Parts: sequence; C-alpha cells; structure tokens
Amino acid sequence: MAIGKGTRAVKWAVCEALRKRAGEWTAPAELAAETLDAPAEVERAVEELRADGYVIGRRRGGKIRFAGCGDRLIAHEITRDLKTRIIGGRVTVLERVASTNDAAWQEALSGAPEGTVIFAEEQTAGRGRMGRRWFSPPRSGLLFSVVLRPELEVRQSHLLTVASAVAVAEALQERLGVPARIRWPNDITVRDRKVAGLLVEGRSLATGSAFVLGIGVNVRVRAREFPPEIRETATSLAAETGTPPERNDLACALLASLDRWYGDLRLGEYGHIARRWRRISSTLGERVMLLESGREFRGRVLDLSLEDGLIVRLDEGVTRIFHPSTVTLRQMPERRRGLTRRR
Ligand code: BTN
Repeated sequence: MAIGKGTRAVKWAVCEALRKRAGEWTAPAELAAETLDAPAEVERAVEELRADGYVIGRRRGGKIRFAGCGDRLIAHEITRDLKTRIIGGRVTVLERVASTNDAAWQEALSGAPEGTVIFAEEQTAGRGRMGRRWFSPPRSGLLFSVVLRPELEVRQSHLLTVASAVAVAEALQERLGVPARIRWPNDITVRDRKVAGLLVEGRSLATGSAFVLGIGVNVRVRAREFPPEIRETATSLAAETGTPPERNDLACALLASLDRWYGDLRLGEYGHIARRWRRISSTLGERVMLLESGREFRGRVLDLSLEDGLIVRLDEGVTRIFHPSTVTLRQMPERRRGLTRRR
C-alpha cells in the first residue's frame, strides 16, 4: 500500500500546483495526477485552502482555478518566501483576538521558541504605549507580536524598540518607497503622521528575560475611518501611496527586516543600529514638548541615547535626559501648521 504524504503536504502541493496555473481552469484529476495524490485528497485540500482564505473558483464541470488570497492574511503566504534565521520560524494568523501581545505572551510562557509570530486580523483590545488603545479594525492593518528572548534585562527593552523601529521604517522605505521616519520613541511616521507603532513588553522569568514585541501598521484604513481623536495625526499606507499594499508581502518584508536588525542587536552591533536610528529619526534636532508626571518641558533634542533616552536642551538652558518609560512627546504646535488634510 502506498504511504500517503499527510494532509498538510497534500494541501501545499495542491496549492503550489494551482498557483503555477494561476488564472487557468484545471480539472482536479489533472492536479491529482501531478501531485500523485488521490482525487478525494485533492478535493479536501482545495476545501482547506479555501478555509484558509485562498480564492479558488469552480465552474460547472468541476474545473477549478486559483485566484489569489483575496484580502486575507495567510500564514503560508507570509512565510513562503521568508528566509530568516530567527524571526518567523512559526507564524500563526488569528481571526480575532483581544491583543496579539497577550496571545504572544501565552505562547512565550508556554515555551514557544524565539521568533514565534502571532498575527491577528482584528483586535478587540489592542494596546499602545502608556495605556493607550491601538485602533485595530478587521483586515485593515498588520497587527502582530513576536516572542523574543535576547540576552538583555527587562530594563533594556528600549534597545529592542530602537532596533525594531529601524527595521519597520526601513522595510516601509524599501518595499513601498514611502518616506518613513522614526518619531521617538516608538512611532513610525510618514509626513509627520503616525502610520505604525511598536510596543515592547518584557518580563523576567526563571529561565531569563522574555520580551514580546507588538507592531501595528495602518495599511488600508481610510482617513475618515480613524477615530476623531487621531484623525488629524494618523495615516495609513493606502492613504500615503494611493494603493493598498498586499498585506502578506508586506508582512514578509517586515519579518525579514526585523530578522536582520534583531540579528545585529543580538551580535551587540549597537553602534551600527544607533547610526541608522539617528539617520531615520524625525525627532533629532527638533523642538519638542515633553510631558512627564503632569509637568511640561520644552526644548530642542540634542541627541538620542540608546541607553538613556532623549537628551534635550531645555528652554531654561539646562540639558536633561528623558527616559521613554516616563515621558510623552508632543509635536510642537508650529510643526503641525500647514499640514494638508488627507483623503
Ligand atoms: C503605540 O504606538 O503606542 C504602540 C502600538 C502597538 C500596537 C500593536 S498592534 C499589535 C500588538 N498588539 C497590541 O495589543 N499592541 C501591539
């Protein structure tokens, strides 16, 4: 008796065979002959691929045709061309979750390997820095969290924010050609509006420190869909480029970029990371207003320190360092003037 390939292997063999003929109508029996699987297994694989989100048409007579992934995020699409060392060894896409950071913590605490990634199509309680909410409507963005176990202490989590911010900004620049910048400490902006945010959470465990890096990217949100309180300050990639990018491709590019920069961080290449960070920063040299424990400070940013935070020459003439865990940065009002409304 022939030994079967296993349901998963049949599914991906059928997926690749269909993809090769994208746009062409094919009889399932022809696919079965090509993949050396039983016709019933091919039919089951087609149903499973559909359940994953692939669009597979069927016409009278039974011929089928591959028509892409619709608007769905699919783990196999994200990882198909992903060649990384650490990030994305395991990728899961959930339909709806409170927060991908919580889901990733569950994985981390039950021993998931470093680099495990959880995406969600929607979050009901997506969170941002300082207790803020992250707007996470269904199928409009990339919402994901990564389990990381670097040899860092929890108090050094800022290093992860920096390396990840560089990775996200660089992926958006290189993949989509958008002028993405880093607004200290964890915002990715395009033309001064926030397009993505990062949230690093760390815990010290008996086995060492574990971190969850959460990333939210506004991909297809239209300007009028943002809640009123962020409508003037947020943007999406679709609004900036005019065409919504394919989310699986973008997810793959983001994971690849994270893998590169996280790899450098693990090797202790802090100087290299800091140089790139300063170059992409939209905060360095700017006039800023900072809120710390209800007090307001104004001044000009002299430098960004990986270890300590923002080094600011205050208007009173003294230089102070602000740590990202205690401070909120506000754009100076004059910087926002003259910005045009988006679609
Ligand atoms: C911020 O800008 O303050 C950080 C926003 C981080 C949002 C992402 S969305 C995916 C992950 N899950 C969460 O609950 N938050 C992060």
